Amino acid sequence: MIKYPIVNFDNKEYLKICKSSELLIGKGMKVHYDDSDEVYEVAIFRIEGLLYCVQNHCPHQHAPEIFNGLVKDCVVTCPLHGWSYNLKDGLNKNPKQGLRSLETFDVIEKDNWIYIEKPNIPIPKWRR
Ligand code: FES
Repeated sequence: MIKYPIVNFDNKEYLKICKSSELLIGKGMKVHYDDSDEVYEVAIFRIEGLLYCVQNHCPHQHAPEIFNGLVKDCVVTCPLHGWSYNLKDGLNKNPKQGLRSLETFDVIEKDNWIYIEKPNIPIPKWRR
């Protein structure tokens, strides 16, 4: 079971994930989080000095591969079949792929640590 310390910023719960130096520029980091009987997974990116956090499961076939996606112009492309999503709002970039988008979560960098908003969308039990 993976646990991260929970801290409060502005009355909102965040998970203390890693030191800032552990998140490489342009490369996604997968964060797997167990909370009692629910499991969550997100992907964090540092792109041009800004941080983004989105769900790690691609809405297409629910593959946990968004963290492995290629990022260009703040758009991440799933490595499996090429669905692409804006990291800022999670929206699907190609209307032909449907309307399913990525959930996004707040990220904070403070005192050389990275914190993410506590995810609230668990991985479905059938997908674990
Ligand atoms: S699973 Fe991501 S594009 Fe198919």
